Amino acid sequence: MAEMINIAVVGFGNIGSYFYKTLEKNKNNISVKTGKIPNIKYICAKNINKKRSIKIPKSKWFKNPLKLPLIDDLDIIVELIGGSEGVAKKLVFSALKNKKHVITANKALMAKYGDQLAELAESNEVNLEYEASVAGGIPIIRSIKENLIANKINKIYGILNGTTNFILSSMESSKKKFSDVLNEAKNLGFAETNPSSDLDGNDSASKLRILSSIAFNKTISKNKILIEGIQNINLTDILHAKKLGFKIKLLSISEIKENKLIERVHPCLIQNNSYLANIDGVLNAIVIDGKPIGKSIFQGEGAGPGPTSSALISDLCSVMRGNIKFPFGISSIFRKKIAKFNILNHSCSSYLRIEVKDLPGVLSSITKIFSKNKISIKNLIQNPDKKNKKASIIIITHTNSEKNYNNLLFNLTKNKFVLKKPTFIRIEKM
Ligand code: HSE
Repeated sequence: MAEMINIAVVGFGNIGSYFYKTLEKNKNNISVKTGKIPNIKYICAKNINKKRSIKIPKSKWFKNPLKLPLIDDLDIIVELIGGSEGVAKKLVFSALKNKKHVITANKALMAKYGDQLAELAESNEVNLEYEASVAGGIPIIRSIKENLIANKINKIYGILNGTTNFILSSMESSKKKFSDVLNEAKNLGFAETNPSSDLDGNDSASKLRILSSIAFNKTISKNKILIEGIQNINLTDILHAKKLGFKIKLLSISEIKENKLIERVHPCLIQNNSYLANIDGVLNAIVIDGKPIGKSIFQGEGAGPGPTSSALISDLCSVMRGNIKFPFGISSIFRKKIAKFNILNHSCSSYLRIEVKDLPGVLSSITKIFSKNKISIKNLIQNPDKKNKKASIIIITHTNSEKNYNNLLFNLTKNKFVLKKPTFIRIEKM
C-alpha cells in the first residue's frame, strides 16, 4: 500500500478551492507518478460558511491554522492566505520550525522573508516550495533552479503581472477606460483582492526580487528598487505609442551591470514587433539571457486559479517524490549579498507627454528645458485642444541618463505653462 501524505490547505478562496478540486480529480494520476497518495486532511478558511462550488466533508474544516504545525500526522502545509505579515508569516515560520514541508503562493512573504525561511527549511530538513508565487502556471522557478543549472544568467526580464498586462492590452484593443478593464480583471479572478499592489508595480517587484535571487545565486535584494506602476498611463499614451510603432507594457527587468544588480519595474515603450509586445491579456512572459543557453523565453498564463493550481500541484509532487531541496537552488551558506547599481546612471531614450497651455512661446519654453538638461529631442508631435486652449506635446528623446530625466521632470513640472506632471515612459530596447 502506497504511503499517504497528509496535507493542510490554509486559505480557501478561488485558488484554494480550485487546487482542492484539481487534486481530487487527479489523485490516481498523482499517486502513479509519485508513488504516494495525497490526502487533504485539513482545510482552514476565514469563512467556513461561504457558498462554494464544491462540497467539503465537515471533518476537514480546522479552525486555528496556527495549531496545524503542532499536529504529528501532518506532512505538508499549503499556505494560500497571502500577505507578507500576519497569519501567513506566523504559519510558515512555525511550520518550518516544526518540520512540516511548506508550499506557498505568497510572493510578498517570499520576497521579504525568503532568505530567513530558506535557512529555517534547510536547518529543519524540510522543503519550502513556491513555484506558484511567480508567473502563475509558468514553471519558471524550478526551470532556473534545475533545468538551467548549467548557465550563468546575466539578465532576466519580462511581464510578471497578469492584471496590468490584461488592463493595458484590453485598453488598446477595446479603447475602454482603465477603470472598466480593471473591473473585468477582478471579475475574472486574477487581480489581487486589493489590486493596488498589481497596479503600483509592487506585485511585479516581489516576483522580480525572487527571480533575480535564484537567477544570480544571491540573497534577495533589500534594495530600494525603481518601481512605477501603470496608474498614470491613459488611453492617449497607448494610442500615441501605437502610432509611433510601440506598445506599452509593464516590464520587470533585473540584470547584472558592472558586477552590480539593477532591478526595475516600470511601464516601457517597446517596439511593436518585439516578442514581449505581443504578449497580451493575462499572459506573462519571461526572457532569460544566459550562457551557454542564449535567450530563452517562457510564456503562459500568469494568474488565476487554473495556472496557480498547476504550479501548486507541481510543488506538491516535487515534495512527495522526496529529496530535500535547497529552496533557492543552492545552500544559504553560498548565497551572498550583491551590490546595487546606481539607478541614476541607468540610461535609455524616453517618451514624454506634456500637457500645456496653448499660448505663444510655450513650445520654445519647453524645448529650452530639454536643452538645459542636455536632453536631445528625437521626435515631437503637438496636438492642440482648441476648445480648452490646451495642447499635448509628445516628445521622444535620444538616450539619456535617469539623473537628467529626474531633473528634466522637476523643471518641467515647475514651468508655468505646464498643467500637470508630465507622463514619462522609458523606451526599452529588446
Ligand atoms: N495578481 C497577480 C497578477 C496574480 O495579476 O499577475 C498572482 O500573482
